[in-house]
Amino acid sequence: MRIRQSDVPHVYTDGEHLYTVNSVPGLAVYGERLVRQGDAEYRQWDPRRSKLAAFLKRGAAIFPFGRGTDVLYLGAAQGTTVSHLADICLEGMIYAVEISRRAFQKLLDLSERRQNLMPILADAGKPETYERLVAPADVMYQDVAQRDQVEIFRKNLKFLRPGGAGILMVKARSADVTAAPKAVYASVRRKLASSGLDVVQVVELEPYQRDHACVLVEKA
Ligand SMILES: C[S@@+](CC[C@H](N)C(=O)[O-])C[C@H]1O[C@@H](n2cnc3c(N)ncnc32)[C@H](O)[C@@H]1O
Repeated sequence: MRIRQSDVPHVYTDGEHLYTVNSVPGLAVYGERLVRQGDAEYRQWDPRRSKLAAFLKRGAAIFPFGRGTDVLYLGAAQGTTVSHLADICLEGMIYAVEISRRAFQKLLDLSERRQNLMPILADAGKPETYERLVAPADVMYQDVAQRDQVEIFRKNLKFLRPGGAGILMVKARSADVTAAPKAVYASVRRKLASSGLDVVQVVELEPYQRDHACVLVEKA
């Protein structure tokens, strides 16, 4: 099936799957399918591997990423989602913070071919350790799967520009293994609202990601 522009800017579809235009043609990052069509090469974006793709599949109210977007990304892992953002934010910068040395090595490899990706080996719970490296961000994205995920998000809000968007991927079982996921998401929503953020949307990511929700906020 032909790949075409989806309803979301910079994201493409064949009617079933999502794609971004590969900024490093010929190279797959995590075994995803590459499809050549016309002058472009597209990378399939798997919602079971990337929560951001799952968010799009579940109906994102806003997709705050564009060509010039600067992103602070906390919990970048090996760069699965980061690599798709790097395809989109071609004139922006993605500051990708990751605590695990092993994952960081893969991020470093990715950054060799991508000028818009700056990997930072650091603990996102200690933003003072990287504040000199990052510029104010248009979007803050966090996916750390940690018990103190809301606290980490709050500590990093100082890097988000006024009017900027925040995306927090909440893993219910990280926050509280005994609580019902819906109760965890409601609690996260309350905590973020009480931090002065506008909560735009809370979307459960089933069936793509079990016991996960995406919380989309805006900073006044
Ligand atoms: C679920 S994975 C992220 C997947 C990635 N966001 C993606 O979609 O491609 C969570 C990552 O957060 C990292 N992490 C956990 N705690 C962290 C912290 N305090 N600071 C930075 N990274 C952290 C873990 O090492 C792990 O790589």
